Amino acid sequence: MISREIQLVSRPRGMPTADNFSLVQREFRSPQDQQVLVRNLFISVDPYMRGRMNEGKSYVPPFELNKALEGGAVGEVIASRAKEFKVGDTVTSNLGWREYCIASPKELHAVSAENQPLSVYLGALGMTGMTAWAGLQLGEVVAGDVVYISGAAGAVGNVAGQLAKLQGCRVIGSAGSMEKVAFLRNECGFDAAFDYKAGPVIDQLNLEAPEGIDVYFDNVGGDTLEAALSTLRVHGRIIACGGISGYNAEKPKPGPTNLFNMITKRLTMKGLLVRDWLGQQSEFELEMGDYLRTGKVKNKETVINGIDHAVGAFLGLFEGTNIGKMVVKLAEVTPAQSR
Ligand SMILES: NC(=O)c1ccc[n+]([C@@H]2O[C@H](COP(=O)([O-])OP(=O)(O)OC[C@H]3O[C@@H](n4cnc5c(N)ncnc54)[C@H](OP(=O)(O)O)[C@@H]3O)[C@@H](O)[C@H]2O)c1
Repeated sequence: MISREIQLVSRPRGMPTADNFSLVQREFRSPQDQQVLVRNLFISVDPYMRGRMNEGKSYVPPFELNKALEGGAVGEVIASRAKEFKVGDTVTSNLGWREYCIASPKELHAVSAENQPLSVYLGALGMTGMTAWAGLQLGEVVAGDVVYISGAAGAVGNVAGQLAKLQGCRVIGSAGSMEKVAFLRNECGFDAAFDYKAGPVIDQLNLEAPEGIDVYFDNVGGDTLEAALSTLRVHGRIIACGGISGYNAEKPKPGPTNLFNMITKRLTMKGLLVRDWLGQQSEFELEMGDYLRTGKVKNKETVINGIDHAVGAFLGLFEGTNIGKMVVKLAEVTPAQSR
């Protein structure tokens, strides 16, 4: 069988370019005993992957050069020599960036095909939705809190905002265009939103939250974190989820100049890693599955078609070309009668 996959062929310095990647055809054998052959239907591109493209020690090992990249994927089983899975089952894995994969049962997670489109397992019902869900718990968010979310129109941010609204919070979001601001207000139910590119974050945040904020859900770091430190009230909380504004920086940027607010306002800042929460995945899937079925939370996504556009989709994350979760569609589900 022939499968195409995206490999990292050189390590980016600063913003990655298409030249750092290669689309490679690979031939592979049929599954052996205790192996399952999966056809990926949707693959995920995520900002954290940028960190894995660098050399050196981090919380996950770097991607290896001239090997397929890894990342979230949802697919269908098309052949199985393991009793745990049968042809037609829907599964998620970390074997994305390729059209087909051979996996052991422990590398696969069975999901229901009732939730459609299946890309929801990469978005609201997947890793990014779970990050939003876990982050609000970590930040001990309660009804009545004023919650400010940066990167709000992205995969984690829009779900965090929808969940905080369900919990009875006042929710403010920032994102990189007026189209995204309208999306936050009109489709995600945010109480207020602003375009962080239209003027200093601190001024716009003060305008929307004249009495301050209780919680800052940080997806971007940099100047936005600095603005939030100034705006947080006494005993405010920061959920440190991501720092995309610095992911392509060639040298570390200086930290916030106003960290002294941590002391004077007795703030708490907690780091979030979604993988620490995997023990609660079933609980998350039940709760979020229910919200999605009842329309309390909507899964928002930007779908790019074809593995040959996957690198462009990834690069687009740093240019803000996505609204909601960025996913790449590789194939349609095989109809039951043609299996
Ligand atoms: N801690 C964890 O376990 C965990 C898990 C998942 C994700 N994360 C982090 O959470 C953050 C959001 O991830 P996601 O998957 O939801 O991605 P995403 O928000 O769907 O996509 C990235 C977005 O970041 C914004 N952006 C790009 N460059 C920026 C800059 N310089 N300053 C401000 N915003 C910028 C863009 O939107 P605009 O148009 O608004 O600029 C873009 O659409 C990332 O930092 C990611 O690393 C952490």
